[in-house]
Amino acid sequence: MAEDLKINATLKKDKYAELFPQVKALLEGENDLVANMANICSALKYGMDFFWVGFYLVKGNELVLGPFQGTVACTRIAKGKGVCGAAWQKNEILIVDDVEKFPGHIACSALSKSEIVLPIYNSKKEIIAILDVDSDSFASFDKTDEEWLKKIAELL
Ligand code: SME
Repeated sequence: MAEDLKINATLKKDKYAELFPQVKALLEGENDLVANMANICSALKYGMDFFWVGFYLVKGNELVLGPFQGTVACTRIAKGKGVCGAAWQKNEILIVDDVEKFPGHIACSALSKSEIVLPIYNSKKEIIAILDVDSDSFASFDKTDEEWLKKIAELL
């Protein structure tokens, strides 16, 4: 169970390597999307010690806040708006080293300094959600996060 997640490593890439099989095991045998998103948020927030981890779900022309762990967040994001809306519109993973420098960034918390945002796809390769991971330090995210978060998202 989630409380049994164990991360002993200190280096980010090693932490992900330890976390991944545990998240995989956690999701096995459960096909409910929201339940699995919720557990991914908790595993990433507490396993990786991120400031905020959450999913925004595609609903019509907007992203609507879904499962998350962290401080309260804005509930609706229009296509193209903020980092999440831009990742959705461009169909791209976005890494932002300093959120203040991203045009149109939506500040849900003044403590959030950098973020990585990944589109989540269904089996038809349509974007069904956005995974948003925020840090309270600048430039926290790089290719290592991109690689492992992509792998984790593919478990959904
Ligand atoms: N910063 C995001 C909005 C979501 S919150 O940070 C939780 C953005 O600009 O899309």
